[in-house]
Amino acid sequence: MKNQVKIDQSIKPFKKNIFVSSDKSLSIRSILLSSIAIGQSKIFNLLNSEDVINTLKVMEKIGVNYIKKKKYTLIFGVGINGFKAKENIVLNAGNSGTLARCVLGLCSAIQSDIKIIGDRSLSKRDFQRVTKPLNLFGVNIKSKKGGLPINFRGSSLLRPIDYTEHKGSAQVKTCIIFSAINTPGITNIKAKKSRNHTELMLKYLKYPIEIKKNKSFDLIKIKGLSQFSSFEYKIPGDISSASFFIVLTLLSKDSELTIKDININPTRIGIIKILKKMNSNIKIINTKKYKGEKIGDIKIKSTNNFKPIKCPENLNSSAIDEFLLIFLVAAKCKGISSFKNLNELNKKESPRLDIALKFLKMIGIKFKRKKDDIKIFGNPRLELNGNYHVKNFLKDHRVFMMSVIAALTFKGSWKIDDKDSIKTSFPEFLDIIKKLGGRIN
Ligand code: S3P
Repeated sequence: MKNQVKIDQSIKPFKKNIFVSSDKSLSIRSILLSSIAIGQSKIFNLLNSEDVINTLKVMEKIGVNYIKKKKYTLIFGVGINGFKAKENIVLNAGNSGTLARCVLGLCSAIQSDIKIIGDRSLSKRDFQRVTKPLNLFGVNIKSKKGGLPINFRGSSLLRPIDYTEHKGSAQVKTCIIFSAINTPGITNIKAKKSRNHTELMLKYLKYPIEIKKNKSFDLIKIKGLSQFSSFEYKIPGDISSASFFIVLTLLSKDSELTIKDININPTRIGIIKILKKMNSNIKIINTKKYKGEKIGDIKIKSTNNFKPIKCPENLNSSAIDEFLLIFLVAAKCKGISSFKNLNELNKKESPRLDIALKFLKMIGIKFKRKKDDIKIFGNPRLELNGNYHVKNFLKDHRVFMMSVIAALTFKGSWKIDDKDSIKTSFPEFLDIIKKLGGRIN
């Protein structure tokens, strides 16, 4: 079948250095922020994936030109409130929640009727989390059943807001910060901890933003309408993409891997903290700072005596895209691992918590679920010998890639659908698997 991969051999021991695709969150943010800068920004190592290409296309539709050069992408910023949108345009965010939610904030002052659409997966996702604060700013915004399509018209009379973001969603936080940039006065956000790339980029751009860190919330104060100039930015590797290879190495026999130049921002490395608590052999080396972000190389060695974890809830947000992989390690633990309050997992490109549990059931791993809390009963001797078909997962890229890692390490004969899903975030995924010796048909 086209677009399906077949795997029926575990990967052989490997010892290699690799690079993975560039960070998606930073790629999208660097385009959105350079669009409202004054002048030409140069973005090096921009991720070449569908979510990022859709970001460039959406910005082009509202008057932001760009040129792809060999080594960088040149973006012609139009300044704050400088977008030009024809009446009744349609912006297609494809599969990307980050693009759809963040661009709504960025466009909050555009006074034309705009419709935002997305693919089947994105259309099912929750947009009330952003329409609510945007309404308070004064944006006229309507969404069908809380999802896409959304019709909106920005306002020339935006007012600053005080808002509490309870979900720990960086997309919601960024949407509000972007709308605050379009708004005169001071906007205050009390935001449950989540990835802080937007705040770090704005700090680097010397934008007037103040952040007070509390234990589980950040208090963010942002002054609107402060213009900044164009900039240069080099995007490091994506920890979420690296994570597939971290877990591949841990679960493989006698292997070693170094993944180079990865963004190891503390708000993103929940997976490393969790896997280390589970006794995994992972080290971060060669760390350096780049424009407020932390970058380093990740060195991993095969591990075969994983310890179960009682996962601290405050690590959920910093590992939010990696739980599918963490569950694979929990499946190989000696003992019971528990995870709490994973509700946000079901709000992703697919209902990932439901899908993960279906997956564990398929491979014969016992679990207990109580609402959004789960317990996984690991089996260190897990070795499969049946036929497994992974299908119907709304083309969720992370479900596809996690299944490939399971197939290459748990034995058994596998068919995995929707190979093309990797184009949204990590187009080089299968090439790297093959480079490490993985046999895929
Ligand atoms: C992202 C934030 C996270 C994450 C997504 C990327 C971002 O979503 O799952 O893949 O770039 O801001 P939420 O903010 O909705 O948790």
